[in-house]
Amino acid sequence: FSLSASLITALGASPALLAVSDDGLIAWVEKDVPLGSIHEFASKHDWIPDKLVVAGEGEWIMPGFVDTHTHASQFPMLGTGGQYELLDWLRNITFPGEERFADVAYAQRTYQDVVRRIINCGTTTCCYYATLHLEGSKVLADVVHEKGQRAFVGKCNMDRNSPPTYVESSPEISVEDTQKFIQHIQEFELDHTTDQKPMIPLVQPILTPRFAISCSDHLLASVGHIFDASSQTTKNNYVAHTYTSIYDHFSLLAPRTILAHGVHLTDPELDLIHMRGVGLSHCAGSNFNLRSGVASVGKWLERGIKVGLGTDVSGGITPSILTEIRHTSIASKVRAMMDVPPSTESSPVPVSSTLQSPFTSPQGLPLPTLLYLATLGGADVCNLAHRIGTLTPGKEFDALHVSLPPGHREPRPVGESLETMLERFLFGGDDRNIRKVWVRGRLIGGTDLTLVNA
Ligand code: GUN
Repeated sequence: FSLSASLITALGASPALLAVSDDGLIAWVEKDVPLGSIHEFASKHDWIPDKLVVAGEGEWIMPGFVDTHTHASQFPMLGTGGQYELLDWLRNITFPGEERFADVAYAQRTYQDVVRRIINCGTTTCCYYATLHLEGSKVLADVVHEKGQRAFVGKCNMDRNSPPTYVESSPEISVEDTQKFIQHIQEFELDHTTDQKPMIPLVQPILTPRFAISCSDHLLASVGHIFDASSQTTKNNYVAHTYTSIYDHFSLLAPRTILAHGVHLTDPELDLIHMRGVGLSHCAGSNFNLRSGVASVGKWLERGIKVGLGTDVSGGITPSILTEIRHTSIASKVRAMMDVPPSTESSPVPVSSTLQSPFTSPQGLPLPTLLYLATLGGADVCNLAHRIGTLTPGKEFDALHVSLPPGHREPRPVGESLETMLERFLFGGDDRNIRKVWVRGRLIGGTDLTLVNA
């Protein structure tokens, strides 16, 4: 281990010591380390830390959030258009807003703010849709790369059923621009050629056909060919709003595929999704806001399907996975209420006999499941569970330093459990409670960094 490694301690119910090496990997973790014994434990590992981050009372270090579906280009429209359902919302709000990204200077200004905001919300990995514009989409990838976030970035494909001023003129042009976009991102990898141990690039291209309605068969088939060819080389991922059988027809369902929403998926579709190893992005807030419905996320989990959370701005009305956790919790309670069979006076059906799984219980998804969906579940959807999502030695250090504020008037109850503190953060915290955001060991955001830069 080199001298410039950093060392982080988490104090709380079970104080731990976690070491991060120069290349951003978690080198080792020691549990139950008294504050006075840090150096003793470090020297046990021949470790001389140059930097020590201490998580104090009411603070802890946890894995960063993964947003499996959002549209960076829709942040300027966030919070508007709540009166519409999907197609009217696309026509009146989304397409006119996305059209503005033809202006590269506008894209520069906007994406800088958007990515900064998402990072400060604690999102260490993000799956982005940009727009159909090649140059504007390259700007988004550049900004993400420069800020050090882990991300999948896609140039949107759409060649039909869209306004004449916001549509690609042919499938060929759409594909050509997509290939140029992929090549642009792949050039980032050259930055890492001197690494002793090659890492996967932090920013990767992703194929993002908008949805089946706005893509001709010719275009979907061409995107399918890029997807297929890339399985040999670049391993492009692919994300779309769900139309399962159509995507399967064009060979677009694979373990690298992310399907967003999935509100109305039938049992046979879920079987197919499971069989193909596809991941689902649960966008509970957006599904409420656009009145699309309430997905049966508990059922997906019971079937062993990969599931993560997506903010889906600006169908969704929050850039924060923390808020999305709350939408997810509420959605799971609503779903449980909807799924209770109507009881008759003569033979009431007790809820406990019909809803037995913790994923579909009337209490809604349990706290550990909500945390899982926001971190490791999302990492799994992105096929990154072996690299991120937990603070495990050998994984990359994508993490948050969280600090609860003291109570408004009274100090926090003495001896509050770590689980209750986590619950307070997940249900009552916001980005002001996120002091530091690290990706692959590099500090890229959080309130501490904002203060330094102010
Ligand atoms: N379906 C097609 N395009 C979109 C979009 O931009 N957002 C959402 N939520 N659904 C879509």
